[in-house]
Amino acid sequence: MSDLKQGDDVIILAIESSCDETSAAVVKNGRYVLSNVISSQIDIHKKYGGVVPEIASRKHIENIDYVVMDALKNANTSLSEISAIAVTYGPGLVGALLVGLSFAKAVAFASNKPLIGIHHIEGHICANYIENQNWEPPFICLVVSGGHTHLVYVKDYCEYEILGKTRDDAAGEAFDKVARAIKLPYPGGPEIDKLAGKGDSGSIDFPRVLLENESLDFSFSGLKSAVLNYLNKAKMMGKEIVSENVAASFQQAVVDVLVIKTIAACKKKNVTKVAMAGGGSANSYLRKCMKDACEMNGFILNTVSPILCTDNAAMIGSAAYFEYLSGKFDEWNLNAYPSLKLGERV
Ligand code: KG4
Ligand code: ZN
Repeated sequence: MSDLKQGDDVIILAIESSCDETSAAVVKNGRYVLSNVISSQIDIHKKYGGVVPEIASRKHIENIDYVVMDALKNANTSLSEISAIAVTYGPGLVGALLVGLSFAKAVAFASNKPLIGIHHIEGHICANYIENQNWEPPFICLVVSGGHTHLVYVKDYCEYEILGKTRDDAAGEAFDKVARAIKLPYPGGPEIDKLAGKGDSGSIDFPRVLLENESLDFSFSGLKSAVLNYLNKAKMMGKEIVSENVAASFQQAVVDVLVIKTIAACKKKNVTKVAMAGGGSANSYLRKCMKDACEMNGFILNTVSPILCTDNAAMIGSAAYFEYLSGKFDEWNLNAYPSLKLGERV
């Protein structure tokens, strides 16, 4: 569908609406962000202690027109200069995904541009290509988002092998649930990050679940339960709960496992480059520990600015560029897939 000539720029208009951020971006050649507009609904969902799917969909509908128009305006671009329209089509909240997908389809159809559906986690991984314009596969990527904890071997652009994933709760989810238990507002990850800095990470011995020998899978539900049990027991016994220490000890337990498994994945695949992606990879302690571990092993680490770690459309625009080059275009019947697997084509 593309008739790309050498030297032509590929300019993607990308849309992301899989959870509680309505975002649109214009990205050139997969690496240069011309605009990245993010309209966050966090303040609305905060009242309920988490994302309310129905409200998220309604807010996306209210915002998407303006967000897309602003993205084009901020990039000083018109639709005629756009090479393709990209959109997240899974995983995520189905109603939320459908808003972005329907909008993208309508714009692509009306402007006679190709449509490219993008996997949300592929987008998170590709944020590394924006942050560091010289970053190239192969590398191991630790993905820590609200809903997913994955260790991915990025063999080449658009080629992913999942080496391990969570068998129950995602790390981000554990952060949010523990934060709630110690009365921190939603989203809990950044709050725990801040509070943990004031606590003693060795004060409470929470479990590090490594699973079977050599497994690169994760499990965080036991850790979450251990924190909840600790809090209940302390309350019952009338013991003082030092939230800073709970946050720091919990965070240490999560980070230890994430770092150990990432280094093991590199050794397994004989890869010396490590990247991180997703909202949880904004965690300052994880970044510090991963940096130390990579230095100790002689590995190169790439991290992404916090604004590109959490949900945004620029990362979708980057992923779409590489899919565009590989000739992946979608039909008008593309649907939203709430549980789409990385690397799966539907
Ligand atoms: O990638 P993301 O924006 O959305 C999903 O795709 O799920 O990730 C959101 C998650 C939330 O669970 C949030 O608590 C977590 O990322 N998060 C953090 C930090 N910033 C965001 N977790 C730990 N430390 C942070 N600094
Ligand atoms: Zn995400």
